[in-house]
Amino acid sequence: METLTIDKPQEPDALRDDGGYVFHHPPKALWDRGVQPDPQRWRRYSVYLHVPFCKKICTFCTFERKRLRRDSLDGFIPRLWRELDTVVATDDLSAAALHSVYLGGGTASLLPNDAIALFVRRMREEFGLREDTEVTLESEPGTKTAKDLRIAKDAGVNRVSIGIQAFQDPLLKSLNRSHDAAQAIAMAEAVHTAGIENLHVDIMYGLPGQTMAMWRETVQRCLDLGVKHLSAYQMILFPDEVMARLIKSGEVPPQPHADVIDEMRAHAVETFTAAGLPRYSLTEFAEPGFECRYVITTWDGSDYLGFGPGAYSRNHRQLWENHTVHAAYHRDTDNGRRPVGRSVEMTPRQTLERDLAMGLCMLSVDPEALARRAGIDLDSVEAVLRELTDLDLVRGEGSLLRLTEPGVRYATEVMKRLTASQFS
Ligand SMILES: C[S@@+](CC[C@H](N)C(=O)[O-])C[C@H]1O[C@@H](n2cnc3c(N)ncnc32)[C@H](O)[C@@H]1O
Ligand code: SF4
Repeated sequence: METLTIDKPQEPDALRDDGGYVFHHPPKALWDRGVQPDPQRWRRYSVYLHVPFCKKICTFCTFERKRLRRDSLDGFIPRLWRELDTVVATDDLSAAALHSVYLGGGTASLLPNDAIALFVRRMREEFGLREDTEVTLESEPGTKTAKDLRIAKDAGVNRVSIGIQAFQDPLLKSLNRSHDAAQAIAMAEAVHTAGIENLHVDIMYGLPGQTMAMWRETVQRCLDLGVKHLSAYQMILFPDEVMARLIKSGEVPPQPHADVIDEMRAHAVETFTAAGLPRYSLTEFAEPGFECRYVITTWDGSDYLGFGPGAYSRNHRQLWENHTVHAAYHRDTDNGRRPVGRSVEMTPRQTLERDLAMGLCMLSVDPEALARRAGIDLDSVEAVLRELTDLDLVRGEGSLLRLTEPGVRYATEVMKRLTASQFS
């Protein structure tokens, strides 16, 4: 058997650290700027809303977001309604059945209650939202009260995600979070008080200055909050972000040693599994039945329609990204145009590679089914699948291809190899 020689462990979450390499297969450099997608027909799909503002900018984050100013939402919300109007006017929604709706960001919970309610109502009236569809509101602690969340629940929100990251105030401060641990706990209590059962939290490990004892405390505190779903992300250190500079200048300690990071990941898997929340993707844990439909959509090759600056959409082989520059988003929405910055039509081969690579984020895929859907023979990727099997990164299990434990650890390497044909 061939052995895998990679100097530095490639962590699963480094999927996001791609500058367009894996997460956006085909690479962003191949997307056409300024080309609008054709009018679309939507059937079974999800909707993602990107609210691109945050109270403070965290030192580690590269998501599409700006610091919230007094007039930010007044500029954004009317354009959002225009964007919805444009899609309703151009696309065929007659057979639309929404599988999930996700209000994310940035910080979606900065939207006023009436805007959240109107967005969900429009989803119901115009985009095919049904009563039992998962509707998630992503939030930062301190942005909504129990009363606000009750209003959101009455409007149709049935799942709340809270970005907690850590329970140690000095760590939160070094991350430039806008809240402390007490506010995070209060927010979780507000979700319970509002009667929303499906509570999700995001936490991070590998943070500068984070010890194993701190991580154990964070893991335990999440369980004490009565969560149904968790994302545990290893912090990716982006070279251009503030955190990298702070570490370089010695203002904050370096990240924990790679062995400690491995121990942190193993502790999360062990503890959450023992508590009845097994891992179901590279980074997600859930009580059975509470796996996030939206998260699954983003990995399994389903269609999704994005609204807001920087939001992505996919309809079968077409991918597009909304303008990230707010002025361009405003200009196009004001003129009744779809606010698309770039788009690409994937070839069948690219579609299969993307669906295999992204699908393995759910730990296993059915390659034959993905090839059929992409409209290409599986032989086209046989060589790379054999190579990954020989490296013990994936293994066949009936009709499925599953990441092995080394495959989970080197997931980014698996994704890179699956999508490497683009560069050969
Ligand atoms: C886009 S944020 C949305 C949630 C909300 N804005 C918040 O931070 O509370 C989603 C999650 O991505 C994770 N995240 C952001 N930057 C990251 C990075 N550099 N490395 C790993 N995870 C990151 C954080 O856990 C964050 O809660
Ligand atoms: S609040 Fe969330 S989206 Fe905003 S900067 Fe922080 S991690 Fe990024």
